[in-house]
Amino acid sequence: MSHTIAVIRGDGIGPEITDATLAVLEAMDLGLRYEFVEAGMGALESQGSLLPEPTMEAIRRHRVALKGPLTTPVGEGFSSINVELRKRFDLYANVRPAISFPNTKARYDGIDIITVRENTEGAYGSEGQTLSPDGEQAQSLIRTSRRGCERIVRYAFDMARKIGRRKVTAVHKANIMKTTSGLFLKVAREVAQEYPDIAMNEMIVDNCCMQLVMRPEQFDVIVTTNLFGDIISDLCAGLVGGLGLAPGANIGTDAAIFEAVHGSAPDIAGKGIANPCALLLGAAQMLGHLGREDQARRLRAAIVATLEAKDNLTPDLGGGGSTESFGRAIAARV
Ligand SMILES: NC(=O)c1ccc[n+]([C@@H]2O[C@H](COP(=O)([O-])OP(=O)(O)OC[C@H]3O[C@@H](n4cnc5c(N)ncnc54)[C@H](O)[C@@H]3O)[C@@H](O)[C@H]2O)c1
Repeated sequence: MSHTIAVIRGDGIGPEITDATLAVLEAMDLGLRYEFVEAGMGALESQGSLLPEPTMEAIRRHRVALKGPLTTPVGEGFSSINVELRKRFDLYANVRPAISFPNTKARYDGIDIITVRENTEGAYGSEGQTLSPDGEQAQSLIRTSRRGCERIVRYAFDMARKIGRRKVTAVHKANIMKTTSGLFLKVAREVAQEYPDIAMNEMIVDNCCMQLVMRPEQFDVIVTTNLFGDIISDLCAGLVGGLGLAPGANIGTDAAIFEAVHGSAPDIAGKGIANPCALLLGAAQMLGHLGREDQARRLRAAIVATLEAKDNLTPDLGGGGSTESFGRAIAARV
C-alpha cells in the first residue's frame, strides 16, 4: 500500500536533516509520496502563522507527518508549536527509544529503553497558571484523568506485546503526589492485570533516575506521566550519547507525527554539519507505525552499519563528514 506523508522541513537545521533523511528513504525505494507543508518561523514569514491551516489540513488528511525541528519565537503571544500540535491532534503517546549505538558517546553498551510518555495532560496541561500581581506567589494546576492514564498505560503494554518486549516499568511519585500520580499508579496496576505475559514493576521517579544511571540494563519499556517522561527520556538520550541519536514519535488516534527530539540548533544551522540520525530514526519509527516493520529494520541496520564503519560521521560524533555525506553513506547501505 502506498502512503503519503506530510513533511514539515522545519527551521534551523531542519531542512538539512530532512533532505538527508528523504534522500535515504528515496534510496530505499519505498514508494512513499510526500506533501511538503510549512510550520514554525518559515511559515510565520511566508504565511503569517506559525501553524497555518493548510499544514493542519495536510496532517489531518494523511494522518502521518515527518517533522524537522521548529523554532518557537521567544516572547509574548507565542506558545510552543510542538505542544500546540500535540493538543490539536490529541497526540497522547510520546514514544522515545534510546539505544546505544556503536562509535557514539553512549555511556553503556546494550541499552535499549523505550520511554512512553503521556503527552497531553499532567503538569504540562498549562491550566490555571497564575502569578500574583506582586510576583510573590505562583501556581499551576496538575490534572490527571483516568482516561488519560488508562490509554497511555495500555499503549505501553500493547506496544510491548507487539514488539516482543518483556517488562514495563511504571514510573510515579504517588508517595507524595497522592492524587495525580496516585491515580496514574492505581490505573497502571489495573491495566497491567490484563497483560499477564508482560512483567510490570513500579518505581518512584527519583529512584528511577538513579537506577537509570547506575543499572540501565534493568529497564525495557518505561511508562510515565508528562513531566517525568520528558525528563526521563532526555536522561536516557544522555545515556546513549546525546540528542543527535534520539528520535520521538507523537501518536494519537487520528494522526501521528515523527521527529527528532532535538531542536533547530541555530548555532550550527546552515553549516551542513548537523547529524541526521535522530530524524532518520524517527523515520524508522514512522515506517514501523505504517506497518512497514521490515523497512524500519533495514533503515536502522543501515544506520548501525554506517556508525560501525565510522563512514562520514558528523562532527558531533567525532567525524569529519557532513549532513549530506553521512546521509549518502547511510543510503549506500540500505
Ligand atoms: N521538536 C522540536 O521542534 C524542538 C525541540 C527542542 C527545541 N526546539 C527549539 O529549537 C530551538 C533551539 O533550541 P536549543 O538550542 O535549546 O536546543 P537544540 O536541540 O536545538 O540544540 C542544543 C545543542 O545540541 C546541538 N544539536 C542539536 N541537534 C543536533 C544535531 N542533529 N546534530 C548535531 N548537533 C545538534 C546544537 O548544535 C546545540 O549545541 C528553540 O527555538 C527551541 O524552541 C524545537
